[in-house]
Amino acid sequence: MIDAKLTPPSASFHASWLESYDEWGTLDQDGAAAFVAARYDLDLRDASHFAQWVNVLHQMAKDDFQPPEGLANQSTIWVVRDNAYLGAVSLRHSLMNEYLTEVGGHIGYGIRPSARGHGLAKFALKGALEEARELGMERVLVTCKQSNVASARTIESCGGILESVRPPESFVADLGVTEPIRRYWIDL
Ligand SMILES: CC(C)(COP(=O)(O)OP(=O)(O)OC[C@H]1O[C@@H](n2cnc3c(N)ncnc32)[C@H](O)[C@@H]1OP(=O)(O)O)[C@@H](O)C(=O)NCCC(=O)NCCS
Repeated sequence: MIDAKLTPPSASFHASWLESYDEWGTLDQDGAAAFVAARYDLDLRDASHFAQWVNVLHQMAKDDFQPPEGLANQSTIWVVRDNAYLGAVSLRHSLMNEYLTEVGGHIGYGIRPSARGHGLAKFALKGALEEARELGMERVLVTCKQSNVASARTIESCGGILESVRPPESFVADLGVTEPIRRYWIDL
């Protein structure tokens, strides 16, 4: 029984998001799309910048919004419990560049370290699949590194069918991929 819920990003979670940030120890958090903040020169420790980032994430879910160069429109869904931010999932609306086609896929997700191991990633991925269905997408590519057993099990539990495991040699060198990527498709 999952006692969390899925919700659109909200500035009201700033304090808890910062606690989560400290747990991760990096802005490079799968699913959170924190890199978007850098594209707008936003410091996510600042409350008003955080609110601007949240607003951009809302805008990016609309396909008539033009995101920064090289970024896909995406829906962002947060996993929360009461006032606590627990994780995030990003649903890219298209595989609009080589990075997404080869490595990133349609969906990325991450659960803060203290909340892992309780089914939240599966809960989040299922929510993203529901959103994808509502957007009319027919199938999604979900990927993970070969060594990421938890992520592979998450994808398989949500119906992922393994298409291939691509060795790093097949990727363009500047993607920085150092291990094989497991590529799964989920029919919607
Ligand atoms: C991968 C990640 C999202 C999993 O989140 P989680 O909430 O702990 O996952 P869940 O509790 O929903 O478990 C999902 C599946 O993984 C398995 N699992 C979870 N942690 C595991 C671990 N450390 N080792 C092996 N399997 C694990 C669970 O048993 C479950 O499988 P099952 O359905 O067969 O029982 C989380 O570890 C994380 O955020 N990691 C860093 C970011 C990341 O790797 N994101 C994915 C990028 S592709």
